[in-house]
Amino acid sequence: MSSPELSKKVFALNTGHTVPAIGLGTWQSKPGEVEKAVEAALRSGYRHIDTAAAYGNEAEVGAGIRASGVPRAEIFLTTKLHNQWHTRVSEALGQSLQKLQTTYVDLYLIHWPCATDPNDSTKVVPDWDYVQTWVEMQKLLETGKVKSIGVSNFGISHLERLLHHPSCRVAPAVNQIELHPNRPSPKLVAYNTAKGIHSTAYSCLGSTGSPLYQNQALLDLAQAKGRSVQQVLIRWGLQKGWSVIPKSVNADRIRDNLAVDGWELTGGEMAAIDAIPQRFKVCDGSFLPPVMHDKIFYGDDE
Ligand SMILES: NC(=O)c1ccc[n+]([C@@H]2O[C@H](COP(=O)([O-])OP(=O)(O)OC[C@H]3O[C@@H](n4cnc5c(N)ncnc54)[C@H](OP(=O)(O)O)[C@@H]3O)[C@@H](O)[C@H]2O)c1
Repeated sequence: MSSPELSKKVFALNTGHTVPAIGLGTWQSKPGEVEKAVEAALRSGYRHIDTAAAYGNEAEVGAGIRASGVPRAEIFLTTKLHNQWHTRVSEALGQSLQKLQTTYVDLYLIHWPCATDPNDSTKVVPDWDYVQTWVEMQKLLETGKVKSIGVSNFGISHLERLLHHPSCRVAPAVNQIELHPNRPSPKLVAYNTAKGIHSTAYSCLGSTGSPLYQNQALLDLAQAKGRSVQQVLIRWGLQKGWSVIPKSVNADRIRDNLAVDGWELTGGEMAAIDAIPQRFKVCDGSFLPPVMHDKIFYGDDE
């Protein structure tokens, strides 16, 4: 039986740190919107903010944190290594910290298992792969500039190779992956869990223009519960056991997305969402070098 009070829940990481169950996503938030969204989220009670160098908004995220007045120590801040910086991990982190106006991040993720050429994002860096990147990530733990390190968009085959490599001293704390009812990835989630890797759900609402917002099963369930589809999706993810990072730039929606306490989805309601048959992927990798596409995108069975 899951706890009905989830807005303040934290999940334990394999590093001894904890991650708040709900965070604010910031991808595709337009310039000028992110600072206000981050400030609104922190003022509403969020304590987890997700950004990335690739989003180009770390400076605004940092400004939003400052504007909120919430002490840095109370906030779990995640950012990610850009594909074009795999060979310069320490330098990349330094730039992120400077933009975020902070001395450390709580979680630093390899954004994709793909090192692209610093000068040409259509090409991969020859003779370099994510295991070498992970070796550099591990070194950051000794600097105090990261509390935990992890990965994103890693499939089982990537993790198998990484975890069995002799240079892997520290398992990733988190694998941040696309997770929603149209992309539930049960095998990958089970694999993460078996290896002590926490799963965080990105695009947990189905992202911009989400088809889930028109899904009749979800609309009927939301109406029956007196909740929004978004709240149902967030609650479903939390009850599945992963953290969620819904994105919004609207202060009312940001607040509403945190309203997941005092009610829950029954086993039957969870099963009904699990049974939604359609499959859909937000991040299709079209921006990655073509040579990497097949190597990164794992099958639907995951
Ligand atoms: N690691 C990765 O590769 C990766 C990839 C994708 C995403 N992410 C992270 O995950 C976060 C979330 O994913 P996402 O941005 O793709 O999308 P999402 O959170 O699944 O969905 C965001 C969309 O839902 C809308 N929305 C949010 N709350 C709503 C509400 N209560 N009512 C109606 N509409 C609502 C938002 O519009 P408004 O903003 O207008 O409210 C936006 O259009 C990202 O922002 C990013 O931080 C990571």
